[in-house]
Amino acid sequence: MSTFFTKNINSNVCKFISNQKIIGSCIFGIIDKNLRIYNIQVNKEYRNNKIGSLLLKEVETYGKQHKNIKSISLTAHEDSDSNLQYFYQKNGFKIVNNSLLNYDDGINIYNLIDMKKYIS
Ligand SMILES: CC(C)(COP(=O)(O)OP(=O)(O)OC[C@H]1O[C@@H](n2cnc3c(N)ncnc32)[C@H](O)[C@@H]1OP(=O)(O)O)[C@@H](O)C(=O)NCCC(=O)NCCS
Repeated sequence: MSTFFTKNINSNVCKFISNQKIIGSCIFGIIDKNLRIYNIQVNKEYRNNKIGSLLLKEVETYGKQHKNIKSISLTAHEDSDSNLQYFYQKNGFKIVNNSLLNYDDGINIYNLIDMKKYIS
């Protein structure tokens, strides 16, 4: 059985749990009506099943209902063989700044793309 665990949301982590196993999570913070996503990940073997999209939706619903947020922001870390911005665009985010800044973690080099979604 799959379920969201949001009771612990005050720690600003939303987890997607299936059969008592955490298979996805989203870490965020809220400042001045903006919810900032710091990280989102889904275990490799469960990807492309809309769990990432469900996590974004769950975090948005929490922000709207409990903190009256007006926007959600994030910086996509896109490596050369992924098109991560597509995932966020599918979920209503738009590019606000493609500064062409890079981040090198010693294994991969990522393009940093600032994205935002306004909440109506
Ligand atoms: C990014 C991530 C959280 C997406 O989770 P997911 O559960 O696989 O995503 P969904 O199934 O909800 O995907 C929704 C759509 O986005 C697409 N998509 C998902 N991840 C994508 C990626 N990395 N690149 C391009 N498209 C992607 C899916 O194909 C799907 O497209 P469709 O609706 O046309 O079929 C997951 O791939 C992941 O954990 N990646 C590694 C960690 C990471 O890069 N996190 C982001 C840090 S900024």
